[in-house]
Amino acid sequence: MSLLQRLLVFGVVAMAVGLVARVASHDYGDALTKSILFFEGQRSGKLPLTQRMTWRKDSALRDGFEIGVDLVGGYYDAGDNVKFNFPMAFSITMLAWSVLEFGQSMGSDLQHALEAIQWGTDYFLKATSIPGFVFAQVGDPNGDHNCWERPEDMDTPRTPYAVSKKFPGSEVSAEIAAALAASSMVFRSINREYSARLLKRARMVFEFADTYRGSYNDSLGPWVCPFYCDYSGYEDELLWGATWLFRATKAPYYWNYVLDNINNLEKSSSYAEFGWDAKHAGINILVSKLIKSQTPSVINADKFVCSLLPNSPTASVSYTPVAL
Ligand SMILES: *[C@@H]1O[C@H](CO)[C@@H](O)[C@H](O)[C@H]1NC(C)=O
Repeated sequence: MSLLQRLLVFGVVAMAVGLVARVASHDYGDALTKSILFFEGQRSGKLPLTQRMTWRKDSALRDGFEIGVDLVGGYYDAGDNVKFNFPMAFSITMLAWSVLEFGQSMGSDLQHALEAIQWGTDYFLKATSIPGFVFAQVGDPNGDHNCWERPEDMDTPRTPYAVSKKFPGSEVSAEIAAALAASSMVFRSINREYSARLLKRARMVFEFADTYRGSYNDSLGPWVCPFYCDYSGYEDELLWGATWLFRATKAPYYWNYVLDNINNLEKSSSYAEFGWDAKHAGINILVSKLIKSQTPSVINADKFVCSLLPNSPTASVSYTPVAL
């Protein structure tokens, strides 16, 4: 799990249990502020005037140009300079979800969180601009990892990798669809035109992911594995994407898709797992907000929440002590 992912999961869990609001003080609030600021340190491309982390400068200004596609922007993964779109998209989905649930409690960080989301969605619009292709990654991870240097100086290959109808990648495509759909909800009341653009693209990308099924493991194996190999299969991302598309569109098509496929997921799932690869707990939580009957999803969502709540008899996570 990269640093980005760890910070994000921490932020979301902290918010999910309401600690940010309740204990008021500096620890968790400061962690939230810094976890959002962290995204500015990871920015790739031409940095805006509003950039707060000013020791970072423009970098990777020609990503994709070698094949005539503009792939400038997005985020670097961690300490390396690869743009891994699969975990990057999950980070954006989670940021969007966090803003949808807790944006009103984020104070002055809300604006920065919105900018962090748009930095991702602007890039994903580029990564999905050619119908029938979804860019999954920029940068050869082997070359990159063999040469540690600042992104501002890098001279390692910035190879773009895409999935296509013939070489599919349903996990990376469906996760990008989820990110675009969730973000379209965030921007709906702020920028209608942009929100509509995100949602339209989310529908197209989801259709591509679902129609041309396969794992990018098989299509792009040596470049995505073992870095962000898809260990948990792509079915969870398809369901996760459909759930977000249902929330964003309310179209029965997506809800039926969820109902038709969710039972396949339950067989293979760990209720407590949630991260860039396995979306099971997140799907269960979203679905449990939409149905009231005690389906396996709802039961697993309850079990997941009870594993997080500090005073629950089945609590299984520990928290950083709060300074009072
Ligand atoms: C992807 O590759 C990893 C490692 O070889 C394997 O564990 C996993 O099952 C593969 N996933 C899919 C969806 O094929």
